[in-house]
Amino acid sequence: MMSILAEPLEAIFERAERAIPRVEWPLHAPYIEAILRLKREKNAVILAHNYQVPEIFYTVADIVGDSLTLAMEAAKTDADIIVLCGVHFMAETAKLLNPEKRVLVPDLRAGCSLAESITAADVRLLRQRYPGVPVVTYVNTSAKVKAESDVCVTSGNAVRIVEALGVPRVIFLPDEYLAAYVASKTSVEIIAWKGHCEVHERFTAADIRHFRQDDPTLVVLAHPECPPDVLAEADYVGSTHGMAEYVGTMNDAQRTVRPRVVLITECSMADNVTAANPNVDFIRPCNLCPHMKRNTLPKIQHSLETLEFEVHVDPQIAVRARAAVERMLAYGRSSGA
Ligand code: 13P
Ligand code: SF4
Repeated sequence: MMSILAEPLEAIFERAERAIPRVEWPLHAPYIEAILRLKREKNAVILAHNYQVPEIFYTVADIVGDSLTLAMEAAKTDADIIVLCGVHFMAETAKLLNPEKRVLVPDLRAGCSLAESITAADVRLLRQRYPGVPVVTYVNTSAKVKAESDVCVTSGNAVRIVEALGVPRVIFLPDEYLAAYVASKTSVEIIAWKGHCEVHERFTAADIRHFRQDDPTLVVLAHPECPPDVLAEADYVGSTHGMAEYVGTMNDAQRTVRPRVVLITECSMADNVTAANPNVDFIRPCNLCPHMKRNTLPKIQHSLETLEFEVHVDPQIAVRARAAVERMLAYGRSSGA
């Protein structure tokens, strides 16, 4: 496959044409051209989460994926600069794994309601309340919270890691609904926190029943950050990576009846997955993550031109936080998650 750095602009748009209407190309083209040039000049790489808009996801990104893919790829890159198009905790994770490299975010305000829901002091109090119980922390947290943790997880490996610890109970932070999902898959006792994703908590089981009423053959894929009654209605529960893979298995031009799918997750995920799967029909309920949407092509260009906004992690925090992330990476991904 030709590197995106060497690919002519027209070829990039043709590859992205199912996701980006042709009428919009002239709007995006100057930014894309500038970003591709700046990446070459500065030996920079762009890592983009699955929730990035198609004009980022399909054009300037070198690596796209879920939180686990981005962490794994951040650990491997030999670029001098990493631009993380996602949210702040993802950039911090990339920085933990690359302390010598410059890690940039296009907009410093790209936060996360889960990361905001818990502090390092909260984790220390939980440890006092449950002495000796391991702390398992979702990557959607600050480096300070990771530093208080034994091991990190993503939705792509949470169940596997909780089971692999070989203990009767764990403290699982901070997503209450992901914790409930993990608890439903293991006999390990889960002590949870009350954090929620402001995007996934808005979906309801009634929404899904309503979609199914219109089409009983509808295939429902849901992210485990959704409330338990929503997950109970789903045919598949998994990370954004797992959802994309699942849809890929249905993308078969030979099928006599086209499958219909609904992705119970952030809006851009459906845009990106739709473009990659022309033989699948989608219905598109749309809950937008305002933090993910802070990333835009003009801001990426600005970031590469000015080297703003650089992400820093206090070295003393970083040592402990890195250990929790590296323990997670050693487990890899659970199959099908
Ligand atoms: P994954 O992409 O790891 O499934 O996570 C979804 C999410 O909400 C990231 O913020
Ligand atoms: Fe955080 Fe939810 Fe947005 Fe992901 S989708 S960044 S979990 S608020």
